Amino acid sequence: MDFNTVKNLTEKYLFPNYGRMDVAFERGENCYLYDTNGKQYLDTVAGIAVNSLGHSHPEWVKAMRDQVSHLVHVSNLYHIEEQAMLAQRLNTITPDSITRSLFCNSGAEANEGALKTAVRYTKRKKVLSALNGFHGRTSASLGATGQTKYQASFEPLISDAFHYYTYNDLESVKEQMDRDTAAVMLEGIQGEGGVIVATPEFVKGVRDLCTDYGALMIVDEVQTGVGRTGKWWCMEHYDVIPDIITTAKGLAAGMPIGAVMTTDEIASVMTPGTHGTTFGGNPLVCASACSVIDIINRSRILDNVNRVSEQWMKELKALKSPKIKEVRGMGFLIGVELQDEATAAAVKKFMFDHNILINVAHGKTVRLIPPLIFSMEQKDVFMVNFKLALE
Ligand SMILES: Cc1ncc(COP(=O)(O)O)c(C=O)c1O
Repeated sequence: MDFNTVKNLTEKYLFPNYGRMDVAFERGENCYLYDTNGKQYLDTVAGIAVNSLGHSHPEWVKAMRDQVSHLVHVSNLYHIEEQAMLAQRLNTITPDSITRSLFCNSGAEANEGALKTAVRYTKRKKVLSALNGFHGRTSASLGATGQTKYQASFEPLISDAFHYYTYNDLESVKEQMDRDTAAVMLEGIQGEGGVIVATPEFVKGVRDLCTDYGALMIVDEVQTGVGRTGKWWCMEHYDVIPDIITTAKGLAAGMPIGAVMTTDEIASVMTPGTHGTTFGGNPLVCASACSVIDIINRSRILDNVNRVSEQWMKELKALKSPKIKEVRGMGFLIGVELQDEATAAAVKKFMFDHNILINVAHGKTVRLIPPLIFSMEQKDVFMVNFKLALE
């Protein structure tokens, strides 16, 4: 289908809830996407940190083909081999105490599941979450998302359970912490919030406060998880073990999945009937996630993330452009904060016109979240064009 037809159908039949760029993609391979005219783009967006293996990774495609040809969906009324295998694999890549998984279909749903679990386990009423954080757009996850721009006009749907603290300010968590606090939620890096990295003192301080008050520490690794920061989980950089980890985006490399992961004891409160979802953890999506974890392990993809990102960060920090305010991040979650929104928009357009897709978070921060297989050579192509864009 040609682009104009796609655009006309979109504008006529879809909700107008997304601001879309004037392009539609027909296929992808490695870190490249091809539009309806066959034009190739280098992809540093990866479907917003989703396509961890790039596009159409041959081993992953084979795993998907095999799975589709024998079983795609059965209900959670039955035992599901692929789901059990995925939970076992997650057990091997999470801290020892995190033994149990619950599967759903998105990051927001994973956070809903985590919040329900925390409230049921602690029998408490308050949840603390960060200003400028992002946890999704369903009712409770929107409540946890401490940004009025996402909440405005939906207030009736947001529970008054949520109280907001200032990120990286331990005093502000302390002030609101009490014996009725079920959980403190946080991201190791606020991705949507403009790639703001948590300080070690803050993360460790939140861990200690949660332990002292009997509240659960829920770490949202929806964006930072599954290798994006160069380790399986961002919290490994901090040497902190949360009570609940949520993840989604990169876990199944493009198939919709979310996961809540926690301890035996905490998971035990979620007895039959307390939570569930029709599609959650179906054989196809779980086979996809198993294949992602296997490929990342087998092909030493985390080594690639660390090697390329270290050099990339170095080169970005060495850029002496007055248009750059700060370079931040970890692994393949890098933020280049530019001087203002107009500059960010112009840089994004320049890059697009030079066949490179980039994302801008929080108005003026270029957020680099490529597939985890992004190579040194692809980084070089990006840098050549990025320098030109800044000029
Ligand atoms: C940290 C974080 N949590 C939750 C979400 C929501 O995930 P989803 O869009 O899959 O519902 C996102 C999405 O960007 C996210 O970055």
